[in-house]
Amino acid sequence: MTKVNDNAIETDVLIVGTGPAGSAMALYLSKMGIRTIIVNQYGWTCRTPRAHITNTRAMEVLYDLGVMEEVNRFATPNEFMADHPIARSLVGEEYGRLRTWGSDPERRYQYEIGTPEKIVDLPQNYLENILLSSAAQKGASVLFNTEYLSFEQNSESVTSVLFDKVQKREFKIRSSYLIGADGARSLIAEQLGLPFEGRMDKKGASNIVFEADLSEYTAHRPGSLYRMMRPGSIPGGIVSGVLRMVRPWDRWVAITFHDANNPPDIDEAMAKRFVYDLIGTDTIDIDIKSTSLWSMNECWATSFHKGRVFCAGDAVHRHPPLKGLGSNTSVQDSYNLAWKLAFVIRGHADTSLLETYSAERVPVAKEFVPATYNALGYYDEVSKALNPSRSTDLGAVEADIASLHRPTAGAAQRRAALQEAIENTYHTHDCPGIEMNHRYESTAIVRPEGEAAPEFARDREVYHQPTSFPGAKLPHAWLVKHKEKISSLYVCGRGQFTLLTGTAGEGWVQAADLISRDTGVPIRTLVIGPGGDYQDPYGDYARVREVEESGAILVRPDMYVGWRANEIIESSVEDLRAAFLRILGRS
Ligand code: FDA
Repeated sequence: MTKVNDNAIETDVLIVGTGPAGSAMALYLSKMGIRTIIVNQYGWTCRTPRAHITNTRAMEVLYDLGVMEEVNRFATPNEFMADHPIARSLVGEEYGRLRTWGSDPERRYQYEIGTPEKIVDLPQNYLENILLSSAAQKGASVLFNTEYLSFEQNSESVTSVLFDKVQKREFKIRSSYLIGADGARSLIAEQLGLPFEGRMDKKGASNIVFEADLSEYTAHRPGSLYRMMRPGSIPGGIVSGVLRMVRPWDRWVAITFHDANNPPDIDEAMAKRFVYDLIGTDTIDIDIKSTSLWSMNECWATSFHKGRVFCAGDAVHRHPPLKGLGSNTSVQDSYNLAWKLAFVIRGHADTSLLETYSAERVPVAKEFVPATYNALGYYDEVSKALNPSRSTDLGAVEADIASLHRPTAGAAQRRAALQEAIENTYHTHDCPGIEMNHRYESTAIVRPEGEAAPEFARDREVYHQPTSFPGAKLPHAWLVKHKEKISSLYVCGRGQFTLLTGTAGEGWVQAADLISRDTGVPIRTLVIGPGGDYQDPYGDYARVREVEESGAILVRPDMYVGWRANEIIESSVEDLRAAFLRILGRS
């Protein structure tokens, strides 16, 4: 940190917020050698588990950030997340069980063709610490107890005013860029006047963190989430609550739902009552650790930045945790923006590259915010199937549920309807398509003139459709080098552009080297095939590359395809140069 004449501290990037978005940004930038300061108004990272489902795309990002060893040490592996029981209570009747997070054979196949990773359960308090401590090791300055207050920007820099809560004094940081990763109540998004669509605080929920050995009721049906559907007296007659595993099988969060305008005042006695209600017995010892209230929103910004100030994560998209997209998408916002900032700060790209952040990430938010909110409706269908009379009279609700056991044709129909409603709740869990199908469109993507992106053949939320069409995530294929098996995704990334070609495409290597020398921007070149850098013994890459063996795929540092050529032709050098410069905003 350097002080300049008006006593402001000077840096390249100031990040407000050490949540998943801010910490991922700090780690990427510090790895790229960018001077970065990251602040948090509190004395430490988040203390409660909050987000936990870490999806495959976020895992790919974490791999590229170089923190997989720590992630694997702290995450609960995929096999402990396999089931999603839906029951009257933990000890009560189980109405059905869903296979989740890639354990259903059909969805597992979607993941296997799309990614080398599996979904894991990594509570947010671990994730933030992994990212932030790694960022600090790489040189980021981390300031806790530091509250961001305001900013002013001009064409050269942003000056932010912060409050040091330890020394009780204000100070200034002047940075080239300011990142608002300050969460769902983002002051920076508000001060920036970002335009929002949708509505906040549509539903309320409370989290009760507790410890209890529940292995007897969970280990035989291992899952991250256990949904309880209890007879109650609300409209519709069924009250829904969730037991969420934090650590198998003794650390938990109980989630209950309430009217956003009428939040409960939860003391320890009430917390215990809620938890025992979900477990279905009060004969188990429980230790309440904390309680907190949170809101379910359906809200997203239609632009993520203005000038030199950029917002990421919940600051610009707020939605229920269904499908586990919150922290995952926040990490991915940062992954999209961080390489662009690094390239601009290093002078490798024009500042116009930064405009592509909103162009590429706003459509992602626009797609998944309503999708996650609407997914809440799938549990209403289960409710209806259990309690078709929709009576609020407890006796009538119990009778509805009891009648499911009858050996009659009518009851058989109801059982089938309940099974269908339960199966459909998979929309609230893993959706490989929504994780991996994004197709970016911006000036940092060079699409072939007159050629449209391939249409989605099936439901794009559910089914992953790999393609190397510019704007899509590079298709995953298992490659081999000596005894090592590695994904095509993982030979790319690490803050660099990569040009992939086949044995017949040697000419591209010379072209890329030449352009790299001319522009001063490194391009990694890799030949895949006999005699090349990596082998394709399974023929996986040949199957997914969608270009001839002599063709080329230019992969951006974020593993998205920036440009491709079907085969090597006379104008290869000019074509590659034009595409590369255009992506960098230098054409
Ligand atoms: P986040 O809110 O995490 O961080 C904001 C940061 O900014 C904090 O460090 C805060 O202290 C700081 N800050 C704010 N104002 C400041 C100021 N003025 N000055 C200094 N610092 C300031 N997601 C998911 O992917 N999978 C899941 O399973 C779940 N599950 C889940 C369950 C529950 C109960 C909740 C409440 C949420 C989830 N989520 C989730 C959502 C997830 O928690 C959320 O999307 C991420 O935390 C968003 O990360 P951000 O980094 O954007 O903000």
